[in-house]
Amino acid sequence: MNLVSENSIEELKSLLSGESQVRQNEPMSTLTTFGTGGCADLFVEVGNESDLREALLWSRRNNVPVYIVGRGSNLLVRDSGVRGVVIRLRGEWFERVIVKPPVIECGAGAKLRNLAMEAMRAGIGGLEFLEGIPGSVGGALKMNAGAMGNEIFNLVEKVRAMTFCGEIIEISGKNAGAEYRRCTGLADKIALDVVLRGTIDSPEAIEQRMKVFSQRRRNSQPKARSAGCVFKNPPGFSAGRLIDELGLKGLRVGGAMVSQEHGNFIVNTGNASSKDILALAEMIRERVRAERGVGLEFEIEIIGED
Ligand code: EPU
Repeated sequence: MNLVSENSIEELKSLLSGESQVRQNEPMSTLTTFGTGGCADLFVEVGNESDLREALLWSRRNNVPVYIVGRGSNLLVRDSGVRGVVIRLRGEWFERVIVKPPVIECGAGAKLRNLAMEAMRAGIGGLEFLEGIPGSVGGALKMNAGAMGNEIFNLVEKVRAMTFCGEIIEISGKNAGAEYRRCTGLADKIALDVVLRGTIDSPEAIEQRMKVFSQRRRNSQPKARSAGCVFKNPPGFSAGRLIDELGLKGLRVGGAMVSQEHGNFIVNTGNASSKDILALAEMIRERVRAERGVGLEFEIEIIGED
C-alpha cells in the first residue's frame, strides 16, 4: 500500500530545487548496513535546508509520516518497508567539514570517518574515537554515539537543528540533554550542523591513537554486515558480555546470527531478513531476562512495517 498519491509526489518534486532528489519505492536494504528491509514509499535526498523545510511542510500538509535516516548504520527497517517518506541529508552543504583549530564545524550529513580524518590532518585531537563508527554526524548527535570511553557530546559546543515545522533553532552542547546513547534535546528535531571543540595536538600523535582504537575494534568486533551493538548496556552490565556468558554466540535465526566476535552484534550472514534479526534479538532478550534477570533495551532504531 502506498500512502502517497502521484499528484502529491509531483507537487513535492516541484517544490524542491535541483540540489535534491525524490525517488519512489527505494529499497532500504541498500541504505542500511544490515542490508535488509523493504522499500520506502518515497525517498528524498535533500541538498539544502530550504528543501528540507519544504519536504517537511509538504509531509505535514499531506499527513505523510517522515523518517530521517543518516548512513543507516544503527537502523533496522522491517521487511514490508516504510509507509511514508524517508529523508536523508546529502550533498556539499550537509557533508561539509570546516576546520578552525581547535574547533571543527560540520554538516549533519558528513561521515564520522571524514570528520575524524579532517580533524587529524588539522591537528585537532579528541575526535579519534569517531573514526571507526560507520555513521553520519547527524545520527551520532541524535543518539550521542560513543566508543572507547568517549561520546560525541563531550565535544559539542553547539548544534543547529530544524523542528518538523521547519523552524531552525540553536542548542548549546551543555543544554542538549545528552545522556548515554540518547539526546533528549534532539528527539523531535533534525540536526543540521554542529560545532565541536577538540584540543590542539600533532597529527602524528592523533594518528597513533586512531591506530590503537582501530586495532582494538578489529580485535573485538565483526566485519560482517551488522548495525553495531544491538542493545544498550544496562546500568552496571555489558550487554555483550552477558550474551557471551549465556553461550548465545553463534545462535541463528535464518540468516541472522549472534556474532562470534562480540555478543552484542547480530550479523547478517548473507541472506537474513529483518524478521530473522528481530526474532533473534527477541530470543536474546528473553534468555537474558529469564537467566540473568536483566532487561535489554534496543540501541538500534527500528522502523517500518511487518
Ligand atoms: N565482552 C565479552 N564478550 C563479548 C563482548 C564483550 O566478554 O562478546 C567483554 C569485553 O571483553 C569487555 C566488556 O565486555 O571486558 C565490554 O566490551 P567492549 O569493550 O566491547 O564494550 P561494549 O560495552 O560491549 C561499547 C559500545 C560500542 C563501542 C565499544 C568500544 C555500547 C552498547 N557499545 O561496547 O559501541 O564500540 O564500547 O568502545 O555502548 C555501538 O554503539 O554500536 C557500539 C558498537
